[in-house]
Amino acid sequence: MQHSTKTPLSDDLKRLIGQPVAAIDTPAPVVDLDAMQRNLARMAEFARKHEIRWRAHAKMHKSSAIARLQMQAGAVGVCVQKTAEAEAMAAGGVTDIYISNEVVAPAKLARVADLAHRLATEGGQLAIAVDSHEGVARLANAMADRRRTGEAAVIDVFIEIDVGQGRCGVAPGRAAVDLAQDIRKHPALRFAGLQAYHGRAQHLRGAQERREAIARAVQDVVFTRNLLRQEGIEVPLVTGAGTGSMVCEAASGVYGELQSGSFLFMDADYAANEHDPAQPHFEHALFVKSQVMSSGLLHAVCDAGHKSHAIDSGLPKVLTREPTGELDYANGGDEHGILRPARGNQRVPRLDETVWLIPGHCDPTVNLHNHLIGVAGGLEHGRVDKIIRVDARGALT
Ligand SMILES: Cc1ncc(COP(=O)(O)O)c(C=O)c1O
Repeated sequence: MQHSTKTPLSDDLKRLIGQPVAAIDTPAPVVDLDAMQRNLARMAEFARKHEIRWRAHAKMHKSSAIARLQMQAGAVGVCVQKTAEAEAMAAGGVTDIYISNEVVAPAKLARVADLAHRLATEGGQLAIAVDSHEGVARLANAMADRRRTGEAAVIDVFIEIDVGQGRCGVAPGRAAVDLAQDIRKHPALRFAGLQAYHGRAQHLRGAQERREAIARAVQDVVFTRNLLRQEGIEVPLVTGAGTGSMVCEAASGVYGELQSGSFLFMDADYAANEHDPAQPHFEHALFVKSQVMSSGLLHAVCDAGHKSHAIDSGLPKVLTREPTGELDYANGGDEHGILRPARGNQRVPRLDETVWLIPGHCDPTVNLHNHLIGVAGGLEHGRVDKIIRVDARGALT
């Protein structure tokens, strides 16, 4: 089934545009649009300086409107993880899409082939990752089925090699050569290069640890690329990298495309990484606005629990504001957060006070919401500028 979430904007949401931040009901996911734009500009500048392409990962924001903004800023297109995410991006006007993940179910591959042909007619391009001969055969079949109807689109195919995460991907070396030879037998498939994404390296806390992990990934890529060259197969592009390690891939001289996604919103987990001096300064841009609904002598309770933000990568941090000062957030369950002053000489927040949470992990937090509320002019004194539809929300297939 095709994904087509077009959640209509409620009248309440429409009326919010132009209103001060105080008018936003809680709990609510809020994007600081100024911080987001600064992150976007820093990413674009970083890629320009390093003469590297960037293909922002849309699994993070799941919004075709944000994807289009990223492309206006210089991204060559978007990555997605799921067929349904690709469909949602295409429905929102994005025409250059890479499914940076394996798809093997024939019913899904029929949708992939359908989308490849649709994008081709719009002057766009679809790409996908593979890591098995069976996957190549099924993709080729799906594309051939569409070709029989007279359409002749070609899908770009990246071979994923496992460079240390232990997730998808063939082992670096010979297995990739065999797959590339296989891909080249099918007229509707074009060997586009190698996907070498090291997910685990993103969250290694030390900058040196990340550098070492990506240095090993680079060795794997070079080894595989040399074997391919010996067989007369050129590797047009090596793609990979996330927000945590992108400075390493960018400096490698081997990767040609960065897939970072989280840099745009920057969650609390990424902020816990040791900063690499080569990394642009990315600011938190996604917050959950919440309100204190109960206040006692030693603690207060806000109205945002883990139905408002994901906690797989840790609990949210509380944005420090005066006069409350630094607050610790403890898990109060689905609908509550427990707030305590981080230091003894600070006061407990009072009833009605606004508390801004910085989610531990932005991707699954966004996926909890149909819309994000975009604020311009800052969280303190800004106004609601736009409502951003999360049009790939729940696009899991
Ligand atoms: C294949 C792939 N590329 C890129 C990314 C983007 O990483 P980040 O959001 O950490 O920048 C991810 C995230 O999980 C991913 O799975």
